[in-house]
Amino acid sequence: MKITHFDLNLFLRDYWQKRPLLIRNPWNEWRNPLDPDELAGLACEEGVESRLITRDADHLAMESGPLAEERFGELGSAPCTLLVQAVDQHAPEVAGLIEPFRFVPDWRIDDVMVSYATDGGGVGAHFDQYDVFLVQGLGKRRWRVGPRCDSATPLLPHDDLRLIADFEATDDWLLEPGDILYVPPCFAHDGVAVGDDCMTYSIGFRAPSRAELVENWCEHQVDGMLEEDRYADPDLSLQANPGEITAPAIDRLHAMVMEALSDRDAFARWFGLFNSLPKYPETDWRPEEPIGTQDVQALLAHSVPLSRNPASRFSFIRQQDETILLFVDGHCFEGTGEAALLAEQLCAERAMVVDSRLAESAPAVALIETLIGQGSLAFDGED
Ligand code: SIN
Ligand code: CO
Repeated sequence: MKITHFDLNLFLRDYWQKRPLLIRNPWNEWRNPLDPDELAGLACEEGVESRLITRDADHLAMESGPLAEERFGELGSAPCTLLVQAVDQHAPEVAGLIEPFRFVPDWRIDDVMVSYATDGGGVGAHFDQYDVFLVQGLGKRRWRVGPRCDSATPLLPHDDLRLIADFEATDDWLLEPGDILYVPPCFAHDGVAVGDDCMTYSIGFRAPSRAELVENWCEHQVDGMLEEDRYADPDLSLQANPGEITAPAIDRLHAMVMEALSDRDAFARWFGLFNSLPKYPETDWRPEEPIGTQDVQALLAHSVPLSRNPASRFSFIRQQDETILLFVDGHCFEGTGEAALLAEQLCAERAMVVDSRLAESAPAVALIETLIGQGSLAFDGED
């Protein structure tokens, strides 16, 4: 499925991170990619993040998954919503939904959350920290969108949900299959299913918080610091009041911190790695049997297609000397020449046939072998 009736440049200029936009069915043809039953099945699986939200009069209650299968039979007629996170990691058709949104770089993309709701079901008025494209898959949902919120916006007291206390909508839209609502970070929104069998696909983005960056970059740098790397003052001179921490001392202390954190190249390498860490690190995607070097060579020589694990995070940084740093699931690979070209292709395409001559390239074969071994890549038909 492709988005064909949509001006990306105009969208980036006027709406991205600025204001909400309703995009009426821009697809060449829209088909709902996942069955409600398959979604319910995923919500019962260990290692899949899911929530069930039920409405009783005006009160919303939340349960975290995995859910017991019997739970679905007990729901009765009260409005409810089932939400499953990162469905793209488990259903290729849902992973395919990310492709049209790759006009935003991969490192900013988080996952596809899928919701299923019965008539009147919804998660309540709230705001998220991230951009989201809400694609209506099946049935209808009424979306009301409000102003931009922040940490000072009053919330209703609730143990599990961050619901806005005085939600006032500025827009009110009924979405039908194929329609897309773009909501920038922090804009209030409230979606309520109109009729049963309402499925919504949230293409969710991510943006590191300053706190997260500072904390993790500092922690990384601290790991490599030596005990003896310490404040020193061999030039100490007498000062009038021994109680004063003088300006030169502060300058020197401040410089110790800033110098340790300001190495841009080291930061780039660290960030690539940090950003490529898997969303669910406890999930083990490694194949049962590691692939051998000769098998990799033979499959490459026969132009067997390669597919990335949809759960894997691939990105690269081009260094000044044209070396490529490839980051995959928390690992860094440095390459030049044909290995660098291969790294770029792996980052550009989620499924691909690579040049069969790479079978002769030891670095390319080694890279593919390692990526297959860590569960980030597979030859088609060789799981
Ligand atoms: C939903 O799909 O019901 C909720 C999505 C959202 O508001 O972020
Ligand atoms: Co939301």
